[in-house]
Amino acid sequence: MLHDKESQVLLFSIFTKKTMLKILDHPLISHKLSIIRRKETGTKDFRENLDEIANLMAYEITKDVPTKSVQIETPVGICQTAELAKEIVLIPILRAGLGMVDGISNLIPTAKVGHIGLYRDHDTLEPKDYYSKLPPNTTDAVVLVLDPMLATGGSASAAIKTIKEFGADIIKLVCIVGAPEGVARIEKEHPDVDIYLAALDEKLNDKGYIVPGLGDAGDRLFGTK
Ligand code: PRP
Ligand code: URA
Repeated sequence: MLHDKESQVLLFSIFTKKTMLKILDHPLISHKLSIIRRKETGTKDFRENLDEIANLMAYEITKDVPTKSVQIETPVGICQTAELAKEIVLIPILRAGLGMVDGISNLIPTAKVGHIGLYRDHDTLEPKDYYSKLPPNTTDAVVLVLDPMLATGGSASAAIKTIKEFGADIIKLVCIVGAPEGVARIEKEHPDVDIYLAALDEKLNDKGYIVPGLGDAGDRLFGTK
């Protein structure tokens, strides 16, 4: 049970929690990001490098995942060590988020995977949802929402809303390229969700594309244009 002072500190931290924005600036990530940004990069290289960037980001994103102390026996003696205290659930936003799943699950092979299907209406830029299937352990897990692009933030915000309604409360948004507009929207609508990006770009253009960005991530990943 919490003492008065501890409860006050806990309540204060809950009510004043602000979105943490972390840009994962690393030479390997920058190099691979340059490859997927290039307009001449084809589907194969786009897919491989996107996957590798997600893999490199996973280490940093999971840095603060809760652990529990366990006592185990090695071949030589007793060892007090730490294991993950929470399961990790990956939720890619279809379609483009699928391109980040393998890279992260290579590092966390026990992670369950849920799916949320959303597409942006070309004219209004509003997200339209068409699918959602989440694993039952989502409510008590650390949830990583995956989408390469955070543009207006409409899709990510709608996906996070669905995940919260399902009952999850530890949610991190993992994108590759973000626009200031998208970051601001998540900060406003989901201040409790931390955002991880490989790069924060300049702005959105009049069609809602990130500038300089990398174009349409779903089309480039699946070769649909
Ligand atoms: C892209 C991208 C995000 C969304 C970002 O998906 O993968 O989900 O746009 O834009 P927003 O921040 O303005 O909502 P898209 O709608 O093109 O669907 P797709 O992945 O199926 O191509
Ligand atoms: N969705 C994309 O795939 N690319 C953008 O630049 C914006 C939204």
